[in-house]
Amino acid sequence: MTTTLIDRVGLLYTGDPEREEIADAALVVEDGLVAWTGPASRAPDADRRVDAEGRAVVPGFVDSHAHLVFAGDRTAEFQARMSGEPYTGGGIRTTVAATRRAGDAELAARARRLVREMLTQGTTTVEIKSGYGLSVEHERRSLEIASRLTSETTFLGAHVVPDDMDADDYVRLVAGDMLTACAPHAKWVDVFCERGAFDGDQTREILTAGLKAGLGARVHANQLTEGPGVRIACELGAASADHCTHLTDADVDALASSGTVATLLPGAEFSTRSPYPDARRLIDAGVTVALATDCNPGSSYTSSMPFCVALAVREMRMTPLEAVRAATRGGARALRRTDVGWLRPGARADLVVLDAPSYAHLAYRPGVPLVHQVFRGGLLLEEDIQNPPPVVVL
Ligand code: NIG
Ligand code: FE
Repeated sequence: MTTTLIDRVGLLYTGDPEREEIADAALVVEDGLVAWTGPASRAPDADRRVDAEGRAVVPGFVDSHAHLVFAGDRTAEFQARMSGEPYTGGGIRTTVAATRRAGDAELAARARRLVREMLTQGTTTVEIKSGYGLSVEHERRSLEIASRLTSETTFLGAHVVPDDMDADDYVRLVAGDMLTACAPHAKWVDVFCERGAFDGDQTREILTAGLKAGLGARVHANQLTEGPGVRIACELGAASADHCTHLTDADVDALASSGTVATLLPGAEFSTRSPYPDARRLIDAGVTVALATDCNPGSSYTSSMPFCVALAVREMRMTPLEAVRAATRGGARALRRTDVGWLRPGARADLVVLDAPSYAHLAYRPGVPLVHQVFRGGLLLEEDIQNPPPVVVL
């Protein structure tokens, strides 16, 4: 069993609440796992040594909310929004039509390309949803494609009601035959609970059926308007309520007194030119907050967790520490994972070496490619992603 010492780390953000940051640190990896962290001066011997040359190290980002199985392009919709059109979610149907037309190989290649794009930006765990198929066969194939790329797959048949169907019939289908076909390929069930998508009763019905089928619950909640999504998520013990942009005091209380994580998706507010969620209100109330990209062709076509960290700091008044915590451990908690999102003995050795002395540079130097090296399961994915160009092995 070879051991690797990552030495001379200027600042190690461990994500472990017991010792969250270590200056002048080192880290030992053994068999794909973190074996030791501590001050470089006390580092044990190892078979191999990687010199971080004073750079900062953070856990690999955990992007707990992404829609990567789709075809088509919605540039025109984005341009219209930038000229004043509001975002309504109506464009989802455009992507559904393009996704249904695409062959399996094309869909798989596109999703894979996005996962690689994420990896080169430091994301080592990603959740992938279906939701652009909206028929038994198309949802099933989306999840099959997703499950080749991640174990965090989410059945989102309840994204919108397809054009050619009655809403009640569709809810019955989602909670019935579609769920039966999709559950073997999914870990989670999700519903877009929103005016124009699914109401409270429909959301409850679908989530309850998913839970009964052995899936965990998560909810697209309170994105465009106040509504019952967050409360239902908390009531049903969902792992996460995602978006949380329009919250009442009762919603904040429900989140604070439940185990449900509030996953904030600032890329969506950026790309739809909408007001950002009130992260301070949530954090001050004691809610666990995660940050994710919501990568999708409509409301947030970014795959970059560093960009979301920068937005969270600049636009949502999170501190750099809170933002990096939300992008790592927060995401892991939103996926109920204890093996990723932090760097402590026994965790998976998923980590990012930043070309910066501190994780704060993720917000301080927005838009700058600061990811120097990415390790996943202790393996270096890129020799140096800036020079020579990235070669990522999935
Ligand atoms: O999370 N809000 C629902 N679903 C996605 C957007 C999907 C789309 O516009 O294609 C979201 O923002
Ligand atoms: Fe989403």
